[in-house]
Amino acid sequence: MLISISQVLDADQRELLSGMLDALVWKDGAETAGRVAAQVKRNQRADLNQSIGPKVEQILFGAISAHPVLRAAAQPHKFSSVLISKTTTGGGYGLHVDNPFMGDGEQSLRTDLSFTLFLSRPETYEGGELLVEHAGQTQSMKPNAGDLVLYPSSSLHQVAEVTSGERLVCVGWIESRARRVEDRETLFDLINLKAELAGRLDDQSPEMLTLSKVIANLKRRF
Ligand code: NI
Repeated sequence: MLISISQVLDADQRELLSGMLDALVWKDGAETAGRVAAQVKRNQRADLNQSIGPKVEQILFGAISAHPVLRAAAQPHKFSSVLISKTTTGGGYGLHVDNPFMGDGEQSLRTDLSFTLFLSRPETYEGGELLVEHAGQTQSMKPNAGDLVLYPSSSLHQVAEVTSGERLVCVGWIESRARRVEDRETLFDLINLKAELAGRLDDQSPEMLTLSKVIANLKRRF
């Protein structure tokens, strides 16, 4: 399942962040890629331990990890820390697959889902599409600032070369309670169906109670 979630950052958060992003300290992105990925990675990564980094990280992580649609689709068990990546003219990130595991010790997680939250307005840069190979097709995404694309970490994906301007994104990974993509999709459908029916049926109706039971029991099976 590949979904785009609009406005994970609202206008106020985008406004607040736009001033802060200029104050970030940057380092070469290839340092943060695995050995194979480093050969195709041409971008910079913000050092979130320096300057205004921790505050920026807190705003982004807070908005992403609490978002109800993302939570329904991903069934998160663990989130990685987020990173902010900047790609300027001539940069990009060639076709690759993300590392299956990230972090150490308590922070360690299996990457089931990857996300990219777009921070730059699409009209401010040329190129820089996120291209994900999914269900036998290549999906090309360049959404509005504040929108997030969620896709299986098992997909081959790339960032098209930026031919002008500057592309800023926030990326991260999720270990899901539901390891299998089919299970996540079924659960997401049921949760959406329940939200849809909630406007028409009483919470205590037999239909809603059965649906709640199915959702709870399906979660227990993972
Ligand atoms: Ni990647």
